[in-house]
Amino acid sequence: MLDVARHFFTKEEVKQYIDQLVRYKFNLLHLHLTDDQGWRIDIKSLPRLTTVGANKVKRVGGGKFIPSQPRSGGQYYTHEEIKELVQYGKDHFLNIMPEIDMPGHSLAAIFSYPDLSSAPDSTKMQLRQDGQVMDYFQIGNTLDPSSEGTYAFVDKVVTQVAQLFPFPYLHLGGDECSKIFWARSDSVKALMQKEGLTTMDQVQGYFEKRVEQIVQAKGKQFMGWDEILEGNVGAKAAVMSWRGIEGGITATKLGHPVVMSPTTFAYLDYMQGDPIVEPPLFASLRLNKAYQFEPAPDGFDARFILGGQANLWTEKIATFRQVQYMTWPRGFAIAESVWSAKGSKNWDGFYPRVEAHFARLREGEINYAPSMYDPDFAVSLDTDSLMRVSLTTELPDLTIYYSFDNSYPDRFYPSYTEPLVIPSEATQLRVITYRGKDPIGRMITMPIAELKNRLEKEGKKQ
Ligand code: ACM
Repeated sequence: MLDVARHFFTKEEVKQYIDQLVRYKFNLLHLHLTDDQGWRIDIKSLPRLTTVGANKVKRVGGGKFIPSQPRSGGQYYTHEEIKELVQYGKDHFLNIMPEIDMPGHSLAAIFSYPDLSSAPDSTKMQLRQDGQVMDYFQIGNTLDPSSEGTYAFVDKVVTQVAQLFPFPYLHLGGDECSKIFWARSDSVKALMQKEGLTTMDQVQGYFEKRVEQIVQAKGKQFMGWDEILEGNVGAKAAVMSWRGIEGGITATKLGHPVVMSPTTFAYLDYMQGDPIVEPPLFASLRLNKAYQFEPAPDGFDARFILGGQANLWTEKIATFRQVQYMTWPRGFAIAESVWSAKGSKNWDGFYPRVEAHFARLREGEINYAPSMYDPDFAVSLDTDSLMRVSLTTELPDLTIYYSFDNSYPDRFYPSYTEPLVIPSEATQLRVITYRGKDPIGRMITMPIAELKNRLEKEGKKQ
């Protein structure tokens, strides 16, 4: 899955991505086409989605992000571009599955058509007058499930998306739907009374069922994130399990087709090394962990598992170079996981092949993360009250050299063998990994203040 909503990637970039994916037997590209930050597909009967929704929406979500270049606005795919991408995928034995995320993650649609929101009329009126001044705490990012206008909107969108993408499934999102504005809405209360719904999850279930019917009426099969299970969605709905694999387990028991795509193994937007060397994100996923991905775990009826998938959200990924960096080598780990017989994977056999493919990526000038060569830092306070730093590497055949005096360590420096006591005058720890005589990791500078911060945070957690 590539999120082209938070940051847009051009048709040419998506084609290059397809070129890279199919080398590793990825046969499906899920395009996350809409979100709070942008609507990225032309819908002819709803022009404001692209004149407003692709353009004028306030950037929200994903925490602080410092772009290296100014962002450009107004980007979306025309029908011609979509058709070209679909054909390009087909020519390379890859299908494209579109996702239109709803009822949450819909701020771009709400900015375009304020009536879609379940905020009070006065708020919608203000949005119409002021344009872009609202954030989602003011108007919500959730479509109004109690308005027939919402379903008319969904029908128009789904009709066009179904025509453009021949793939049998349409993904209609369903994740992280905030119910704050629903809970305050009189018309949602009236809907609950009329339909005998007692909880907000059931209201979402009602919405999902309506949407599923629209999708089926266009001759397509409905797929959504695992939250769609919470409101008794129809039995034929396919579930993409992202909050771990539990949603997927439950779904197979109920007979739903399932795609396994858990944050724990398959989220490519997470950092792949120590936070000191990676662009900041709230979670980490090392290569060796991604390599443990099992799309059809024991105890499941594997007949219901359609496959496994990795997800690349792009709140903090602004360039195609960074898309590549986040995808490789973890994409190798995911590809090998979904195409390997159970029990046949072997890390010690895998990482040398990763290195052979690094050489191919370099030759092709495709970016990748060298993070597997870099250590993780952990801090502890021992019984002697001294702070110690532990360094670990994913690969067994590396040596870590270090300095505390601001110089650049090489293989004639002390090598790491046990947790380090930090000299009291030191302001930074510098490390680099070697394989034999050759430097292989990045030169990493770790401020002692950062280690102290981490220790304090650890202390607070305990
Ligand atoms: C998701 O990561 N919100 C599906």
